[in-house]
Amino acid sequence: MSKAIVYTDTGPPDVLRLADVDEPQVAQGQVRLAVRAAAVNPIDWKIRSGAFGGVSLPATPGTDVAGVVDQVGDGVADLAAGDEVFGFALGGSYAEYAVVEDFVVKPPDMPWEVAASLPIAAETSQRVLDLLDVGDGDTLLIHGAAGSVGGIATQLAVARGAAVIGTASQRNHDYLQTLGATPTVYGDGLVDRVRALAPDGIDAVLDTAGKGDLPASIELRGGTTDRIATIADPRADDHGVTFSGGGGKRSLAGLREVAARYEQGTLVVPIRATYALADAAAAQRDSEQGHGRGKIVLVP
Ligand SMILES: NC(=O)c1ccc[n+]([C@@H]2O[C@H](COP(=O)([O-])OP(=O)(O)OC[C@H]3O[C@@H](n4cnc5c(N)ncnc54)[C@H](OP(=O)(O)O)[C@@H]3O)[C@@H](O)[C@H]2O)c1
Repeated sequence: MSKAIVYTDTGPPDVLRLADVDEPQVAQGQVRLAVRAAAVNPIDWKIRSGAFGGVSLPATPGTDVAGVVDQVGDGVADLAAGDEVFGFALGGSYAEYAVVEDFVVKPPDMPWEVAASLPIAAETSQRVLDLLDVGDGDTLLIHGAAGSVGGIATQLAVARGAAVIGTASQRNHDYLQTLGATPTVYGDGLVDRVRALAPDGIDAVLDTAGKGDLPASIELRGGTTDRIATIADPRADDHGVTFSGGGGKRSLAGLREVAARYEQGTLVVPIRATYALADAAAAQRDSEQGHGRGKIVLVP
């Protein structure tokens, strides 16, 4: 037996309980990790709350995970017990053991908390920057640039040669500047502020916040929805804007890129807070506040 966070009903954070569970077993193409860190993502508490319905219970939350390989399934090449990896957990990552199928090797000097912070943020950033075709010379507006996805997307876009204007609360402006972005506050007057910062116009918009900025984004794009994407606004369809969702087979290109950038010393990955596994409810409550910089991490 081992420990995992389990919920048997959807609802508020208090439905999360530390429980004794059987260790998960690997299938073909999978490896099992002794978890060293698991990150909290908004999707974890959105599912827990029941907002999406259809969750199979009992459930263990979490996808982002980093850990030490302790069981290797058939068909997994070039990997052995003791190797250190990070990736996407199947069946939950808030646990002492997790199973992964899509993962990359962790750079030796990368702290566990950092590794666990990266899978969803890196995959999402890479996917949406590719979708928007962000490249050298583009001016990209990122709504929510100090968040987990926003911070990684900002750095990958700057590395592609884009000029990034990022929205964040005032206390995150220094941080955005260190990432190479030009910060501005979100809220009333955003269109005018962005126009003042980018008099030649905005070439693409990535909305990571989902707080109603799609009409302003369309205005800033001169009335077109072309090269605007949101990962968080459920009203995307109403505005004719592309919603990019995760799930399915995950590309590892973004994870490889952030691992390489970390090794080169060119990736900034702030950890907002670290909680013990048993305090998963408090960690999710913290994430539900919706403000901050970087990732909230659980350590078993
Ligand atoms: N579709 C996908 O594939 C996908 C993948 C990952 C995440 N998501 C979704 O994307 C969203 C962000 O995820 P995350 O992990 O980056 O969250 P996060 O780390 O909690 O970051 C949220 C950020 O939003 C900013 N924010 C809050 N109110 C805002 C507003 N009114 N305007 C602009 N920015 C605002 C906050 O900045 P301040 O602290 O400066 O206020 C904070 O940094 C969530 O809804 C998540 O479910 C979707």
